[in-house]
Amino acid sequence: MKVKTSDIAITAVMPSQYPADDLPEIAMIGRSNVGKSSTINTILNRKNLARVSANPGKTRTINFYIINKEFYLVDLPGYGYAKVARSDRAAWGKMIETYLSTRNALQEVLLLVDIRHTPSEDDVLMYNWLRQYGYGSIVIATKSDKISKNQQQKSMKVIRETLGMPTNAQIVPISSLKKLGIDKLWGALESLFIE
Ligand code: GTP
Ligand code: MG
Repeated sequence: MKVKTSDIAITAVMPSQYPADDLPEIAMIGRSNVGKSSTINTILNRKNLARVSANPGKTRTINFYIINKEFYLVDLPGYGYAKVARSDRAAWGKMIETYLSTRNALQEVLLLVDIRHTPSEDDVLMYNWLRQYGYGSIVIATKSDKISKNQQQKSMKVIRETLGMPTNAQIVPISSLKKLGIDKLWGALESLFIE
């Protein structure tokens, strides 16, 4: 896909603030610090559109980015980070759950996992939940620059097995640091719109 325009459209914490048009949405979910915001910047070829931080818990709202005035990429707060205050975690959990379980415009939810690690219990729970809602056809394995090609293959097998991904679901390794895997990810995203 050729990205002609990309912009932050809306920052939301509750349904009344979600976009009012009916454009399709694709959301990114995963542990804090896994690289959701970085992935959005990378595939849009933007440096600082989505705010990135080395400290987990950077993204705290539901951020809708409008692409080519045609669809939204949606950045969500991460889960699973112990140092975020319990009350914040509960509020984000509710905010994310409300969005994921009620949003009609939501076409697909991409689970991001760190390619170096076996998916956590939270990741597995999230993936099962996504499958129940008909999502989960694409998993992104982030930070592929951190390990060799050979290790990547092994890790992707472990990720696929641990999450219990069906054979028709894809894992796409990407590196925001080295800008690797972007075309493959766009290919996977485009296939969502063609079906
Ligand atoms: P929250 O908003 O806290 O949920 O985190 P996030 O998932 O949006 O992660 P973010 O994009 O903010 O990135 C977290 C950290 O990982 C930052 O220090 C990034 O620079 C780093 N990072 C993200 N992608 C990559 C990558 O492909 N390779 C490497 N080496 N580092 C990455
Ligand atoms: Mg973020």
